[in-house]
Amino acid sequence: MSSVSGKAFDTKLLLRLMQYAKPYRTTLQLGLLMTVILAFLAPLRPILIQHTVDKYIITPDGAGLLRMTLIMTGLLLLETMLQFVNTYLTNWLGQSVIRDLRVQVYAHITRFKLKYFDNTAIGTLVTRVVSDIETIADVFSQGILVIIGDLLQLVVVIVAMFVIDWRLSLISLASVPLLIVTTYVFKKAIKIAFQDVRTQVARLNAFVQEHLTGMSIIQIFNKEESSFKKFSKVNEEHRRAQIRAVWIFSIFFPVVEILSAISLGLLVWWGAKGVIEGIVTLGNLFAFILFIFMLFRPIRQLADRFNTLQMGMVGSERVFNILDTQAHIENKGTVSPAKLKGNIEFDKVWFAYKDEEYVLKEVSFRVSEGETLAIVGATGAGKSSIINILSRFYEINKGIIRVDGVDTREYELEFLRKSIGVVVQDVFLFSDSILNNITLNDPDKSEEEVIEAAKRVGIHNFIQQLPGGYQFDVRERGGMLSLGQRQLISFLRAYIHNPQILVLDEATSSVDSESEMLIQEAIQALTENRTSIIIAHRLATIQAADRILVMDHGKIVERGTHQELLKLGGQYKRLYDLSKLKESA
Ligand SMILES: Nc1ncnc2c1ncn2[C@@H]1O[C@H](COP(=O)(O)OP(=O)(O)O)[C@@H](O)[C@H]1O
Ligand SMILES: [Mg+2]
Repeated sequence: MSSVSGKAFDTKLLLRLMQYAKPYRTTLQLGLLMTVILAFLAPLRPILIQHTVDKYIITPDGAGLLRMTLIMTGLLLLETMLQFVNTYLTNWLGQSVIRDLRVQVYAHITRFKLKYFDNTAIGTLVTRVVSDIETIADVFSQGILVIIGDLLQLVVVIVAMFVIDWRLSLISLASVPLLIVTTYVFKKAIKIAFQDVRTQVARLNAFVQEHLTGMSIIQIFNKEESSFKKFSKVNEEHRRAQIRAVWIFSIFFPVVEILSAISLGLLVWWGAKGVIEGIVTLGNLFAFILFIFMLFRPIRQLADRFNTLQMGMVGSERVFNILDTQAHIENKGTVSPAKLKGNIEFDKVWFAYKDEEYVLKEVSFRVSEGETLAIVGATGAGKSSIINILSRFYEINKGIIRVDGVDTREYELEFLRKSIGVVVQDVFLFSDSILNNITLNDPDKSEEEVIEAAKRVGIHNFIQQLPGGYQFDVRERGGMLSLGQRQLISFLRAYIHNPQILVLDEATSSVDSESEMLIQEAIQALTENRTSIIIAHRLATIQAADRILVMDHGKIVERGTHQELLKLGGQYKRLYDLSKLKESA
């Protein structure tokens, strides 16, 4: 977690934030207007009370008293109403701004390249999109406007006090310097405490998220106990941080109470003497008692308000940082033909995930339109990487990848990715119906179309057997289906999107032998009339390929047809014999 170092008032940041309030300018202006009106209305009540006491109570006047009571009731109603509208408007404004901001941030993040996600904790991004943005809402609802209102009210009240009686004013304000010092000290202490709290909350979030996601691993390895111990520790740290913040608050509030009591005591002592001596009116004394409350409340709250504002500033800084991050795959390409033919060519391609740690070294090969290429090799040889760079999920370091003779970087990115269908081993399903998982909510794909495709791929029967058929809800990450079933679904997902180039990355490895026939049929349907690259362990799939590449440590070490490679008697032959052994076992 980055530390909180932001200033409460960063003009540049604030101006940028204000841009987001632009569409709601009227609301903002209305809120500001109400804030100003409320600040000026504040000293009216004490003044009215002073008037009532001096004019209608000291010399009793029932009718006058009733009139004043009605006026004060009216004023109170007006203030309450304005307060209500103001609170509603400013919160509405804050929520509207963060809705817009969230949408923008989310859209921005979804276009980041995968490399960014390799290096950024998902929990951090979740925090940015959810809670950091939340603090920005408070800038509008509890931050700027309220601070302006409080400060304005302070000024108006103090001016009113001095106009009415400067001696009583001085007495009332006697403890204010002390209050300001206390508030300042509090503000510093609470800022540090809040930073700590936020860090601990983030840790708690990250821990819970990660451990719930990995719950099956925890249970498989009987790690409930140690996971629980770790959790208790994180939780205890969280408690400690919170208690520290609470502690600071519980010192600050009584101190303020004491200070305001001192002011009040001084005022009553000196004022009462004045009343007796006839230099202070009783009404003024009453008014000043109310003024004191009006002074202390906003000063006490200012510290809190500035913290809110500051947290909002820190939140917006973090969010803007994400918005300013240009981690997108460059999409300068413009080529977007109606349809690809599907000729693929890797020309001396070098690729590293980081720095110079090459996982692909001078890889060159061709696949012609409609052909099927199989890639085999040990785990970590670089097979999946070939696919990652073909669809430009990662950028290559050297060399050129061409599709239909055109550098892939020259294609419009969306077009390129739409033209290459990828089925990976680790199928990700959203907690949604089977149908939506296949169409990915594409409104152009009808249920009939999906059923038709499922029949051709040969998995219609399987889906129909599920309760609810195509409407079957697969739940969180497809937890209600077996791995093999999920793979069959992802086959259909690729098939229905009808890409010109199809890539299967160990997509058949989790399917049991009973489904072997099903898989062969599906692959047959899938690879028909399109260029395909298949990474597989299954002999049947590999043998049927037009060409086979054998990879080892990022290099292509053998290439040819099944028969050619067997004859060669190298790595392929060894892999082949090994898997044959496995399959007959
Ligand atoms: N996202 C990644 N970031 C960094 N290194 C990676 C990443 N994905 C794979 N690698 C590394 O690249 C090498 C090749 O991986 P991969 O292409 O997935 O192999 P295969 O699919 O043949 O098993 C491995 O050493 C692996 O550790
Ligand atoms: Mg792989």
